[in-house]
Formats: sequence, C-alpha cells, structure tokens
Amino acid sequence: MSSHTNELGAPIVVIMGPPGSGKGTQGDLLEHSGVLKKVSTGDILRSHVKRGTDLGKKVSAIIDAGKFVSDEILAELVECELNSLAMTPVLLDGYPRNEKQAKNFGQSKAFSRLTKVIFLSVSKDFLVKRLLGRLVCSSCGATFHLKSFPPKVNGICDVCSGGLVSRNDDTREIVERRLTVYENETEPLLNYYNKLGLLETVDGRSDPKEVYTEIMSKINKITKNHRSTG
Ligand code: AP5
Ligand code: MG
Repeated sequence: MSSHTNELGAPIVVIMGPPGSGKGTQGDLLEHSGVLKKVSTGDILRSHVKRGTDLGKKVSAIIDAGKFVSDEILAELVECELNSLAMTPVLLDGYPRNEKQAKNFGQSKAFSRLTKVIFLSVSKDFLVKRLLGRLVCSSCGATFHLKSFPPKVNGICDVCSGGLVSRNDDTREIVERRLTVYENETEPLLNYYNKLGLLETVDGRSDPKEVYTEIMSKINKITKNHRSTG
C-alpha cells in the first residue's frame, strides 16, 4: 500500500453514492491495485452479523429492513477503524450517511485526513437492475452480477470458489426503501461537501474499469498534493 502521510496521518477519501452505484466494486479495485485500503461500514456490519457478535445480533434486522444502524454505533466503529489505520491511505465507503454522522465525523480526529469526497453518479433505473442482479460470495465477499459481471461458473466465486448468494437487503421492496432513505438522508451531504470544496463527481454508469480510471485521475492529484505539501 503506497503511503503519502503527513503529520496529520494518511489521506482519507470518502466514496459516496446511492445503493448499487458501485462503491464496493470500486473499493475492491482500488484496494487490489494497492492504492487505498477499503473501509466499508456495510461490510464491517455484515461481518459482525455473520460472526454472530453482540453487535451483529443488534444490527441484523435493521440492515435486512434497509434502515440505518444508530449514529452512535457507527461513530464508534468508524473512529476505531480509522485510528487503527492512521498511516494507511483509506477509501471510506458508507460513512457518513446523514447529517449527524457528518457532524460526528467532522469532530473526529480522522477528519483532518479527509482529502476528497468522490460521488458516484448513477440514475435509479441502473441501480435497481444492478442490485436485483447482484451476487456476493458468502465466503470472501467478492461481488458479481448475473448479467453485467457473471462468475465463470454459475453460483461459484471466481476468487475463492465459495458459494454465491444474494444479499438479504437486495429484494425489490427493500431496495426501494434503501433508495428513499438515501435520497432523504445521504444526498443532502453532497451539497455540504461541495461547499467545503471536497466533492468530485464521477459518472458511475460506465464500465467499472472506466469508472476506476476516472477515480484514479482524482486520487493521483491527491497523492501529488500530499507529496508536495507533506
Ligand atoms: P452498504 O453495504 O453500504 O449498502 P449500500 O450503500 O446500500 O450500497 P451497496 O453496497 O448496496 O452498493 P454499492 O454502491 O457498494 O454497489 P456494488 O459495488 O456492490 O450498507 C448496507 C446497510 O448497512 C445499510 O442499509 C445500513 O443498514 C447499514 N449501514 C452501513 N453504513 C451505515 C451507516 N453509515 N449508518 C447507518 N447504517 C449503515 O455494485 C452493485 C452491483 O452492480 C454489483 O452486482 C456490481 O457487480 C454491479 N456494478 C458495480 N459497478 C458497475 C458498473 N460500473 N457497471 C455495471 N455494473 C456494475
Ligand atoms: Mg457496497
């Protein structure tokens, strides 16, 4: 993992966008190429559910219903994760997701590391098709799609040969709810980060590799800035 730290710590890039916009897919591509480490609040919460921890038991039904887990739980979880990665450039996926979380993040130690907010712009008709066709590996979490990114062998993960499943929150009804929650709670944050001069919009409708290239062009600028000022 390349490091461009300064006295504040390594940069944090937030990736925002509606459910299905490709945040996780891009996070995986960026992590595999060694650019940034992906920290996904959704992945962390689902891992707690899978392991049956106290936190997992508390949040399982909330996630399956497409609602938000409490701001207090998220603040603690993210702070802990980011502090343990103080010297590692991070791509933060899934946080902050409402006004309160943005406020908590703004008051946290890690906020001084926030260098860019990438917004993946994708229209609703794309999102529903993507989410209803998504397949995830029950073992390693790799993401596929029935049509746009099918596995080589039906139902089997290309990476680890684990079984592919649909996420519990990827039903039509819950997807609609998640999109509404996103519009009401998360979308207003775009304006906030734009005013702070941190927002960059990327067209998330193109092929994943093209989206990746566009994100990289924004991140290269960041790392250059860090080299010159760090
Ligand atoms: P989370 O896991 O973050 O879900 P989400 O925001 O709804 O986003 P998704 O993971 O569904 O979509 P994505 O943008 O990652 O898309 P992906 O790359 O997989 O959160 C889940 C839940 O956890 C929340 O509902 C909440 O309960 C809880 N939670 C998490 N954070 C929280 C917070 N801060 N506060 C409170 N609660 C929180 O792609 C989707 C599909 O499209 C895949 O099949 C993929 O192969 C395909 N695809 C991706 N990119 C492309 C492309 N460019 N072209 C064609 N297909 C593509
Ligand atoms: Mg995701």
